[in-house]
Amino acid sequence: MKALVLAGGRGTRLRPLTYTTAKQLLPVANKPILFFVLDQIAAAGITDVGIIISPETGESIKAAAGDGSRWGARFTYIVQDVPGGLAHAVKVAQPFLGSSPFVMFLGDNLIQGGISELVAGFHQSGAAASILLKEVPDPRQFGVAVLGPDGSVQRLIEKPKDPPSNLALVGVYVFSSAIHQAIARIQPSWRGELEITDAIQELLNEGLPVRANLVSGWWLDTGKKDDILEANRVVLDEFATRRIEGEVDDESHVTGRVVLSPGARVIRSTIRGPAVIGTNAMVVESFIGPYSSVGERSCLRNTSIEHSVVLEGSCLTDVRNIEDSLIGRNVRIQVATGKRQAIRLFLGDDSDLAICVP
Ligand code: TTP
Repeated sequence: MKALVLAGGRGTRLRPLTYTTAKQLLPVANKPILFFVLDQIAAAGITDVGIIISPETGESIKAAAGDGSRWGARFTYIVQDVPGGLAHAVKVAQPFLGSSPFVMFLGDNLIQGGISELVAGFHQSGAAASILLKEVPDPRQFGVAVLGPDGSVQRLIEKPKDPPSNLALVGVYVFSSAIHQAIARIQPSWRGELEITDAIQELLNEGLPVRANLVSGWWLDTGKKDDILEANRVVLDEFATRRIEGEVDDESHVTGRVVLSPGARVIRSTIRGPAVIGTNAMVVESFIGPYSSVGERSCLRNTSIEHSVVLEGSCLTDVRNIEDSLIGRNVRIQVATGKRQAIRLFLGDDSDLAICVP
């Protein structure tokens, strides 16, 4: 069994952050989402991993993930010249995949509990493909499956305007080599992409067995700003444990599951977990509420923040009531006079924002 991780794409919905950063490297709980994906692949015992990268952000993915030794694996980087769709990515990876079955994992998706069970189930089933489905409130932005009365997959539709079910395709699949012939037979969709849903539909048309499992735990698809905040909340909730390696002065209160990384300093401040504060960050006369991640070297002074993600090297001064915000690298925000109003931000890297309240 091999794995194919899709870490290319455009990331348009996460602009401006994706002008400078591959979206798969955006952190949740201060760790790139891609690393959680690679952890789950390694935990399933897969060591031969192909990683699809784009010409624009590929080098940063390579620099971050390396040769795979950190995961006890071997990584092969495969450049996809244009983001031609998920099935296009498989086509480009065909020389790497050969005739091996493989797990395809979208590099910005995560599922609770990992993929070991999915992989083991595929081996036993003899299916041509195994897909995961999750009930979602609004299926129109996903691939959607229609199941028969016996639970078998009958039909798949990509981003339907009028969804026939609320079962969305989760971004983790297992395929036999039959998928390559199916992809060779499909045409680009109306949006110009080779869709993996069309290729799986093609397997069904050929009468090949496609297995579906319902995901009962959480599924995170971090394509948009609020998805990143939700992923940050869920991951902190599930994985954060209290670890105080930085310095906390006598006038500060750090309660609950807080990770305070080495070199971080907390001065006359309150931090309520679950939260993670990066290496060499400074928190001075500030409040950090639950579900917050503060990147390394960031600095908060007289600031309050909760349910937010701040990337590395950003400086927030005299900003009260930040909520539901995703702040890029090296951002500076300073407020002249305070007024208790929620400020909701979605700022790109290197922004420099000064808010003046009358
Ligand atoms: P998407 O989120 O569907 O696409 P995108 O990354 O282009 O984002 P946006 O819609 O905001 O422009 O992609 C899901 C994952 O698959 C993501 O990790 C990127 C990756 N991908 C590829 O590697 N190659 C591709 O051709 C496409 C479409 C996506």
